[in-house]
Amino acid sequence: MTHLVLIGLPGAGKTTVGRQLARRLQVPFVDSDAVIEERLGCSIREFFEREGEEPFRDVEETVLDELTRGEPCVLSTGGGAVLRPANRQRLRARGRVFYLRSTPEELMRRLRHDRTRPLLQVADPLQRLRELHALRDPLYRETAHYVIETGRPSVATLVNMILMQLELGAEAARGATAG
Ligand code: S3P
Repeated sequence: MTHLVLIGLPGAGKTTVGRQLARRLQVPFVDSDAVIEERLGCSIREFFEREGEEPFRDVEETVLDELTRGEPCVLSTGGGAVLRPANRQRLRARGRVFYLRSTPEELMRRLRHDRTRPLLQVADPLQRLRELHALRDPLYRETAHYVIETGRPSVATLVNMILMQLELGAEAARGATAG
């Protein structure tokens, strides 16, 4: 068992899916944003407002590095975890990475009442989500081993899709060894 890493934009379902996935696999669930907030001693939104984005990205890089060296777990990450090349390389090298992919419109539907995400506290959050999607979709794809489209399926179905991909990956690896 290695680290199973979930990446994707805010609202993609990384935390919800990650929790259920960990339960099914009976391994610990870790949310890197929760670990970061513990370390900061305040919410990410407060820290962003006070210190700006770069100091937050520094803490994020350190925490992701530590967590992917630690005990195997299901790890859900913040939406900007793929921005730094060092993060992209470490996540991909140390875990099996799943990109939970959604359209900006779907994300907007899920996040319309959200006040916790600093990057979305703007006059036109849908426009912001479109920009983030355009900028980051290639980075998520570059980092991920698997892309999971999250449009219609329920959380339980998404978890099953991930488990199936893992099983297929393990079979392919066994086949390669046997052959
Ligand atoms: C961020 C996403 C947030 C959090 C921070 C920055 C981003 O996590 O890490 O506000 O850059 O997209 P979620 O993806 O869990 O909202």
